[in-house]
Amino acid sequence: MFRSPAFTLLLAFTATAATDTPPKVTFNKDVLPILQQKCQECHRPGEVAPMSFMTYGETRPWAKAIRESILSRKMPPWFADPEFNGHFTNERRLTPEQINVLTSWIDNGAPEGNAKDKPAAVRFAQGWSIGKPDMVVEFPHDLSIPATGIIDQANLLVKVNFPQDVWVKAAEVRPGNPKVVHHMKAWIRPPGSPWMADAPEGELYKPTRAQFAPASRDSQPTTGPRPVQDILAKYNPGVNAQEFTVGGAAKFIAAGSDIVFEVHYATTGKPETDRTRLGIVFAKETPTLRYVTTTGVNNASFVIPAHAVNYEVKAESVLQAEALLAWVQPHMHLRAKDYELRAHYPSGESQTLLKGKFDFNWQLGYEFAKPVVLPKGTRLESIAHFDNSENNPYNPNPNIDVSYGPQTTDEMAVSFMGFIVKVSDDPMKLFPRRGAMPVVE
Ligand code: HEC
Repeated sequence: MFRSPAFTLLLAFTATAATDTPPKVTFNKDVLPILQQKCQECHRPGEVAPMSFMTYGETRPWAKAIRESILSRKMPPWFADPEFNGHFTNERRLTPEQINVLTSWIDNGAPEGNAKDKPAAVRFAQGWSIGKPDMVVEFPHDLSIPATGIIDQANLLVKVNFPQDVWVKAAEVRPGNPKVVHHMKAWIRPPGSPWMADAPEGELYKPTRAQFAPASRDSQPTTGPRPVQDILAKYNPGVNAQEFTVGGAAKFIAAGSDIVFEVHYATTGKPETDRTRLGIVFAKETPTLRYVTTTGVNNASFVIPAHAVNYEVKAESVLQAEALLAWVQPHMHLRAKDYELRAHYPSGESQTLLKGKFDFNWQLGYEFAKPVVLPKGTRLESIAHFDNSENNPYNPNPNIDVSYGPQTTDEMAVSFMGFIVKVSDDPMKLFPRRGAMPVVE
């Protein structure tokens, strides 16, 4: 290899420098690569975080706050206990080395460093992160959101009437106006389902409990995969696009299906509008495995006493067929503080699949790096604890008993789960007592 004298000199210089004084941690060389990898997903213009960390100028004023937020593990938002490091593909944790780099940068005056050390800017997907959708389902018109007040969670029907059966590789909900969208889900409404059947299209609507009855088998096709009520896509801060290709699976939408959006709006102090879109990328081939997203375990009959500091709520279901568990998203409200999911296998063994803190502001989903094999007869059990005392800063009212309900001031103890089953299986038979039903009212 050709080596100029200057290059040799430089090598010698670097070697000496390294032994004498440790190399100074700078923004351009050491910090920016970490921000690119762990923070800019949210901390850039147009995304959920209120400040951008794309440049030195934008980041420097936040140095102290960054130190605090990473040492308290508030940022980046990730709540699985350390024993689960490496278990989830969407893990969003800083390594101890990365925490070290960031804190020593801040403790040494947060220098910018040499522009030559700067890594190339990351190219984030513009618009859809699933790539160009094959199909876009959109609210038929803008919805008006009032300036103030609490807007109850409600549903909105879009009569898509899919012209043929389709298999879906990936789907994504993109809020038209992220400022007002607290969370949003897109459910598949199978043909013949009584759910939302009489709802006006494109308007917020609250279905009654009776409308949750599953469609009768008579109204459904008898050949091919069974159409079911299935969550196609979800949006909330920290969760957007989802791929269903684990193990070669895809999600099924039957011909004649419609889309029901479950929407929860927040107000901003100004009148706003929103027109949300759902992007769908089709699978190229018919898969052998099917991805179904549904309420895995749910408890709708608990009462958390006023002032209770650590009230436990469990929920469970027994699987009636073998399935793989690919994804779990615990869902609780303002009083929840921690969460655990256990699998009790028919062999008598038990395993904790996820355990960690819970923060209402971050309804994170956890993607298993290795989907968990759940044999028929496995009992899934969730254990959550709630703080209904005045010590909980999020608690809207410690003086009342709190029970199950869809609004933020009520509570929930449900786990949405992504299961992988054989295409020939009937997903309604995974949990026959309840079926694949939405939990909102
Ligand atoms: C999934 C999205 C997301 C990621 C990833 C993320 N943040 Fe944030 N961050 C937010 C949001 C939203 C807020 C504002 C709300 C809040 O404070 O919780 C925030 C707030 C902050 C704040 C202000 C906290 C305060 O007390 O005012 C700091 C500092 C911060 N983030 C640093 C970071 C750093 C450093 C990283 C990467 C190591 C990171 N964040 C990764 C979404 C994110």
